[in-house]
Amino acid sequence: MIPLNFISSRYKVISTPSCHPQLPIEDLDHTEKPRAGLPSNAMSPNAKPEEPDAVVGKLDELREGAEVRGDCESPADQPPPWLDKERFYRAREIFKNHFFSIFFSHLAGLMLIVHIPSMTGPLMSTGNSANIVCLFRRYLSTLVHIRRWYEGDIFNPDDPAHQSITMVRGMHKRVADKINGTPSTCRRRCPAVSQYDMALTQFAFVGLIILHPKHVGLHCSKEDLECLIHFWRGIGYMLGMEDRYNLCNGNLEETVAVCRDIMDSELRPSVQKPQKESTSMSRGIVKAMNSFIIFLSWEAMARFWYEQMDLPCDFPMGIYESTGYWLMRFTFGWLLRFRMFHRFFNFLLRIAVKQALNSKEYYEGYLARNHNITNV
Ligand code: HEM
Repeated sequence: MIPLNFISSRYKVISTPSCHPQLPIEDLDHTEKPRAGLPSNAMSPNAKPEEPDAVVGKLDELREGAEVRGDCESPADQPPPWLDKERFYRAREIFKNHFFSIFFSHLAGLMLIVHIPSMTGPLMSTGNSANIVCLFRRYLSTLVHIRRWYEGDIFNPDDPAHQSITMVRGMHKRVADKINGTPSTCRRRCPAVSQYDMALTQFAFVGLIILHPKHVGLHCSKEDLECLIHFWRGIGYMLGMEDRYNLCNGNLEETVAVCRDIMDSELRPSVQKPQKESTSMSRGIVKAMNSFIIFLSWEAMARFWYEQMDLPCDFPMGIYESTGYWLMRFTFGWLLRFRMFHRFFNFLLRIAVKQALNSKEYYEGYLARNHNITNV
């Protein structure tokens, strides 16, 4: 367990660990198994001769972004020239019809991506991931932002979705400036919240969906998956990503290939050899969401995904966790083949989120009582 004051010495807390009360949460398959795990030092995509050149080049190019600030200062008031509105707004329909599956994939992506070392520092530095109550606020707020982006119009300056994404871009900028120094003091190496970190976070949101759509009950067409990719390309753009570092600027095959490379060379090794604080954060995120989603546990989620990722599941599972795991298998593997069950689970999740938003204090109190407040 991580005490409240545990923050990597490299990163100073830049806001109090009481989180940020101004949170805007007012109401607000490619089921083919990934290749066997590469050794954690297999960082060079060139080491994989079977990859097409274009993909090797793509991952290399993304990695160059590790030295570049995450926000390229592109204008936030105009859509990108490559925007295909029809495909972008089709993501809204897909989200509406598959809310449960998409929410679950995003949550899984987030609980996994915090294992990548470059993510942990900036997240810890703000104090908003300092304990279970903070994590509850932080990730409920994230859910609300992301839902607005799907449901609204991020390119229309008068739309709440645009205001929300601009606000998040501002949050990233403040954290990055605080850690890196301002652009004038940081000319070359800007390690925190880099363009590559942005691409890795895009992976957290869209990577698992396109690598394993059926595993999360998404039985949709190739075109639909490409609409989701296009949507996340637009999100990346609006958050200040440069086109060449955007994970999502290819078609389905290209994006799947580069996501598989990220899985092999970044995610799997990081999850296999986790830092102490990443594990705590990962567990804390799921525990916080479990306050309003029954049968959700870190162990069940981890087993559900580790098996898919060819990772060992060497953690104990109690009856509650095993039940949760088998329910996940049954729900995503069987029930969600049918549209009526999508509707049913979408409905249940909407109610649960609404309840969590309306009774935040109740859930925060519950978490504070049931988990040591000073520990994640
Ligand atoms: C596509 C890329 C990304 C998306 C979609 C995204 C999404 C979000 C969202 C929705 C919020 C608002 C959370 C809230 O209201 O509390 C947020 C805040 C934040 N994000 Fe990101 N993010 C991305 C990339 C990153 C990266 C690469 C980092 C750092 C390595 C990062 C670190 C943070 C931090 C520190 C905050 C402020 C809230 C806190 O203290 O945790 N984000 N992000």
